[in-house]
Amino acid sequence: MVIDVISAVPGLVTGSLQYSIVKIAQEKGLAEINVYDVRDFSTHKQRQIDDYPFGGGGGMVIKVEPLFACIEFLMEKAKAAGTPYQEVIYLTPDGELLKQPACNRLSLSERLLMICGHYKGIDQRVRDYFVTQEISIGDYVISGGEQAAVVLIDAIVRLIPGVLGNAVSALSDSFQDGLLDAPVYTRPAEFRGLKVPEALTSGDHKRIDAWREQQRFERTQARRPDLLED
Ligand code: 6GU
Repeated sequence: MVIDVISAVPGLVTGSLQYSIVKIAQEKGLAEINVYDVRDFSTHKQRQIDDYPFGGGGGMVIKVEPLFACIEFLMEKAKAAGTPYQEVIYLTPDGELLKQPACNRLSLSERLLMICGHYKGIDQRVRDYFVTQEISIGDYVISGGEQAAVVLIDAIVRLIPGVLGNAVSALSDSFQDGLLDAPVYTRPAEFRGLKVPEALTSGDHKRIDAWREQQRFERTQARRPDLLED
């Protein structure tokens, strides 16, 4: 899978790609992630990419020209490579709330484009013209789409077959089947009198599975009863 990312603050994205599962996926050749600086597509002397919003109000808006130039450049490249973008995603707090099923679907893509806003966002004409999907990572505001893109990339890339060592573990994640995960423990079995639940150390796999299933159900009921209604 190839993921191209457009950003005004590319370091916020590239920094996070150098660790953990996403790094391993790139090293294994299962994911290629390229981050493009929208400033490189500005024709201004000072590489300006933002301007005041029409109609006033606070904040700055990323301009239409450098974004169009960047997106058109990347679309040409993608087409020439024989893998046009399956989705052009804009990360925005007014997008659709990200949930596991959307991650599962996107993980089957060959090539994705993600556009990060910063400041007050991007000129609406870019959204109208190119964007096929708008995604929010939660009901709160962060300063730009970059960290949201990092969240989305991680959620997608870890689902690509072969990325996780233990193929089973992605499937038993919280949310993958609508339930939260069971608690986990590792050695020692007792620490300052704090004991690991007896079922887990019993060696009886039927009992362990039953305990985990029960815990997952109880946790979901206590913390996220809304998940049980769906
Ligand atoms: Cl995608 N961007 C920003 N700036 N804030 C958010 C978000 C995205 N998702 C939730 N909050």
